[in-house]
Amino acid sequence: MHPIGLYLHLPFCTRICHYCDFVKSALYSEEQKKAYLHSLESLLDDYLKVWDEVPGVSSQLYSVFWGGGTPSLVTHEIAPIMRKILAHTAPDAEITLEANPEHINEESLRIWASHGINRISLGVQSFHQEGLKALTREHTAEQALEAVRLVRRFIPNCNVDLIYGWPGQTERDWAEDIAQLISSGATHASLYNLTFEGSTPFARRVARGKMHAIDDDRLYGFYETACRLMTIADYEHEEVSNWHLPGHEARHNGLYWHGGSYLALGAGAHSFLQELGPYGTRWQQSGNWRTFVPEPMTTLQGIITRQYNQIDGDRGIEAWILEVVSSGLRTSRGINISAIELKSGYSLVPRPILCQALELGLLWHDKEGQLFLHELEWFRETRWSLEVALSFIQA
Ligand SMILES: C[S@@+](CC[C@H](N)C(=O)[O-])C[C@H]1O[C@@H](n2cnc3c(N)ncnc32)[C@H](O)[C@@H]1O
Ligand code: SF4
Repeated sequence: MHPIGLYLHLPFCTRICHYCDFVKSALYSEEQKKAYLHSLESLLDDYLKVWDEVPGVSSQLYSVFWGGGTPSLVTHEIAPIMRKILAHTAPDAEITLEANPEHINEESLRIWASHGINRISLGVQSFHQEGLKALTREHTAEQALEAVRLVRRFIPNCNVDLIYGWPGQTERDWAEDIAQLISSGATHASLYNLTFEGSTPFARRVARGKMHAIDDDRLYGFYETACRLMTIADYEHEEVSNWHLPGHEARHNGLYWHGGSYLALGAGAHSFLQELGPYGTRWQQSGNWRTFVPEPMTTLQGIITRQYNQIDGDRGIEAWILEVVSSGLRTSRGINISAIELKSGYSLVPRPILCQALELGLLWHDKEGQLFLHELEWFRETRWSLEVALSFIQA
């Protein structure tokens, strides 16, 4: 039986950070928040009704992830949903809630823990005051440090998100941020390079020449620093942006990276079932949370094809290969050549650049047909993935 995860999206924030392109809003009323949670619960009811229509999938949840937006804006309100979820989780399920440091206090942590939350993902972004200002964050550096300390006391399994590449950041600032994270005892770290997405205020400023992204070589230098310092501190590198202490890998994220199945509830949320169709089935709920009142469904097909959902139904074998290669190649697990060959009917015939990389030891494979890319190249995974995918398709 395949494991399955559940994602719940809460799109509310007290203020909007200028780099963020997730589905979120700071303009909402308490009534709207309540109504939204109610809709999440009825969507969950739908899924629980049709779960056994998914062939080959476990009847217990392997992981649950409350993401946002800002899930730490809710405490007791998650109780009715969590009661239903907990009746369907495996005894050792990872149950994460994404939180902003300004919402962390003993009471909120106690409440979340009492409703089954056993992992917190904390959006610190930087332990430097200048970094927090540059990133338009609401919390202070002091609050960030105190938040990690408190979380670790009540819910020891704690991920810390940091962002690198913010305007004005020096190499030393970055090394200090990593050192703070390590000394905080965080069991997991997500270290993201700042990206300029869609029509965010940062992206608009860059387009107008009012703001400058740091150059690629410096950004890569920051990545190298992260790889070096995290290894020295015994964190294992599991994915280009993710590290963990032994035994604390991000289970839920692992489903995303390795083609696992997950159901998602909420505005803009993506679901994927590897068990449906030749290459799995992916769908996304409407990103408009204000009109997010789904009519009840009693069949899996009804849920997938619900009004306003987007369905990625036309993926062919080539798209599937590129997808599997690009998500796996930037992880320590790599990709399985034999499995891709078996499913696609294509054989891997390395193109000249791959032959060179194999000779240089940037790429290697084991006896089981697992292909690995060197961690220092995960940062440039897009280029390598294209080469690997073409080495299958053009063979
Ligand atoms: C959607 S946010 C939600 C977390 C929470 N609301 C917070 O702000 O702490 C999840 C994480 O994505 C990362 N993130 C969001 N936008 C980003 C961007 N443009 N560049 C790099 N990281 C980004 C941040 O590290 C953030 O903590
Ligand atoms: S980074 Fe977090 S708090 Fe900031 S806008 Fe995005 S979801 Fe909201």
